[in-house]
Amino acid sequence: MTGASRGIGRAIAERIASQGRIVVGVARSLDGLKDVGAAITAAGGRFEAQACDIGDSTALAQMVEQVAEKHGRLDILVNNAGITKDGLLMRMSDADFDDVIRVNLKSAFVACRAASRPMMKGRFGRIVNVGSVSGLMGNAGQVNYAAAKAGLVGMTKSIARELGSKGITANVVAPGFIETDMTAVLPPQVKEQALPNIPLKRFGTPTDIAAAIGWLTSDEGGYVTGQVIVVDGGMAM
Ligand code: NAI
Repeated sequence: MTGASRGIGRAIAERIASQGRIVVGVARSLDGLKDVGAAITAAGGRFEAQACDIGDSTALAQMVEQVAEKHGRLDILVNNAGITKDGLLMRMSDADFDDVIRVNLKSAFVACRAASRPMMKGRFGRIVNVGSVSGLMGNAGQVNYAAAKAGLVGMTKSIARELGSKGITANVVAPGFIETDMTAVLPPQVKEQALPNIPLKRFGTPTDIAAAIGWLTSDEGGYVTGQVIVVDGGMAM
């Protein structure tokens, strides 16, 4: 799973490890992963850290292949890592558009393609791509991010149709407003404006997202594919 060093990704790693899986957690550097690994190991789980820039397609594909080869199988892929480079349409540079598409959308394509071979061989697979309500509703200032997250939905549904007969499911989990480093940098007025639009009247936690992904990747989630599971306190309905 990608983006395991902090925030939502850390919670997903801890959750999947608690379900008895060996978790291979990926982030740009090993620094943050050390803490995550220590916490998972202390709780009796198994975790391996991998440093990889998922924006580098060749490195990402090689890393996924090596993980599958080392363990002789690959059961679950969670594409969680993501970035924002927000700005209004009129002022958004090509570079900021391309970077967000590369890291948030293309990386998921590359990882899914690399994971599909070992999953097909094992006739089992659970793919979860972490989207966003921005990809469903749009969001002013996030043309690049919303395009990438909406792209994940079409891609995931296509993968679900292609690989379903091989025992592989593919779903999107779309978080709403979750308290992490990504949202900590937003101005206070953005948060104040968001809260009244959330029927459950609280921001989400990484654990809220990890619970949905834990279920989808467990045996109990095995008959769910091609879906967008929105975990947002009711914000986007
Ligand atoms: P975060 O910024 O706290 O963590 C992002 C993770 O992705 C980190 O582990 C980072 O190392 C990794 N990462 C970023 N770029 C990378 C790269 N090029 N190569 C390797 N790793 C890279 O983000 P957060 O909030 O935990 O978000 C996780 C996912 O949830 C993202 O896909 C984000 O778009 C999505 N999301 C978050 C929401 C929120 O409110 N926090 C709302 C909706 C979606």
